[in-house]
Amino acid sequence: MGAKKVGVFGCGMIAELGHLPALKHVAGIQLQAVYDVSWNRALAMQNKFQISHAYPTEKACWESDIDAVIICTPAPFHLANVVQAAKYGKHVLCEKPLAMNEADILRMMATMEDAGLMLFTGFTYRFSGSAREIHRLVRSGAVGEVRALRLTYLWNLHGKWNWNEKGERIASPLRVGRMLEGGPMVDCGVHQIDLARWWLGSEVKWQRGIGVWVEDYQAPDHLYLHMGHACGAHTTVEVSFSYNATSREPRTHFQYELIGTDGVIRYNREEHSFELRNSHGTQWLAWHPEKNFAGMHGEFAHALATGEPRDMPTAKDGLIATRIARLATEEAMRDREATSKAHPSMLVRAADAVGLDIASPLDLDEPNEDPAPILSTDMERTKK
Ligand SMILES: NC(=O)c1ccc[n+]([C@@H]2O[C@H](COP(=O)([O-])OP(=O)(O)OC[C@H]3O[C@@H](n4cnc5c(N)ncnc54)[C@H](O)[C@@H]3O)[C@@H](O)[C@H]2O)c1
Repeated sequence: MGAKKVGVFGCGMIAELGHLPALKHVAGIQLQAVYDVSWNRALAMQNKFQISHAYPTEKACWESDIDAVIICTPAPFHLANVVQAAKYGKHVLCEKPLAMNEADILRMMATMEDAGLMLFTGFTYRFSGSAREIHRLVRSGAVGEVRALRLTYLWNLHGKWNWNEKGERIASPLRVGRMLEGGPMVDCGVHQIDLARWWLGSEVKWQRGIGVWVEDYQAPDHLYLHMGHACGAHTTVEVSFSYNATSREPRTHFQYELIGTDGVIRYNREEHSFELRNSHGTQWLAWHPEKNFAGMHGEFAHALATGEPRDMPTAKDGLIATRIARLATEEAMRDREATSKAHPSMLVRAADAVGLDIASPLDLDEPNEDPAPILSTDMERTKK
């Protein structure tokens, strides 16, 4: 069977750095077309990656003979793009998050199903050699029964500031846009949520989201998500967009830890370390970057050729991860609202619960100039 012809819809950062270079080298796929609402951008990507067709209009791209499309537009456009793909009979691999809300994702799924077409979610982390090795190790019982996952991704989303053409400092539009789309759990944490479900092969039965506002956005820019799985394991996902967001020399923190009844699997992106420690000893495993676009497109090619999704993340996987991420974010925002409106009597009850005397100044060696109780100081801070 010949290679399937695919087009890339939206030629921004992730298309240029992730999808387009990978698609050039995947067996079973012919990268045939690009489209972007910016014609110049489409042309630039056509030239850079030597692609036979760039289309000046969306309609021309849909009417072309591509079999499938990879949607790399910003999330607010995904629904409209998928509806068009269904109309023109194209299978879809759509970047995460699938859409801006659950109703839109359900509509995307129903539209594609009615058209007899496949819709996948671009959870590229699943295809990292290290993530696949973790999947295998968990199934082989290498750390016994997995009881806890600690998945951490703290970074600065390319920093808080940008500079305009006049050299003036402005708030980074990328950061503002991603915070409006839901913040770090919806944008990045969905990958970790998907990994936890995939590695454990176990659905999330309960969840709790706790937010921290390093900057005063509507959504939290630093978030903890706790998930209890049907198998009894517990996952913590910690994500941030504001870790070193103003630092001159920022560092990121990206780690997976799987803690089992016989040892720990530990992957650290920054240290390039990947290890298995159990009762037999320690094994240093082959480290791979956390994403693998070529691997994902190889699996996409297989699905296009056979109709079998195998390990491709389905639209349902995208729906579940986005639902969990949004619920966690909304829960954190509701709690922030509730605590900022808390009556002082609630603070007293909370202080009682942890044995604090909030009527007394802080117990420091030096006399305290500011007699504000520790709890109300914290509450004031979260009110901002
Ligand atoms: N999987 C990952 O690791 C990963 C990483 C970054 C971004 N993403 C996701 O990829 C998507 C795109 O992100 P990005 O960072 O590349 O954004 P971007 O803003 O850099 O690029 C988006 C591109 O889409 C074009 N565009 C906008 N509206 C369009 C429309 N209606 N039709 C056609 N083109 C349109 C823009 O001109 C732009 O070139 C988002 O959903 C984002 O969450 C995924």
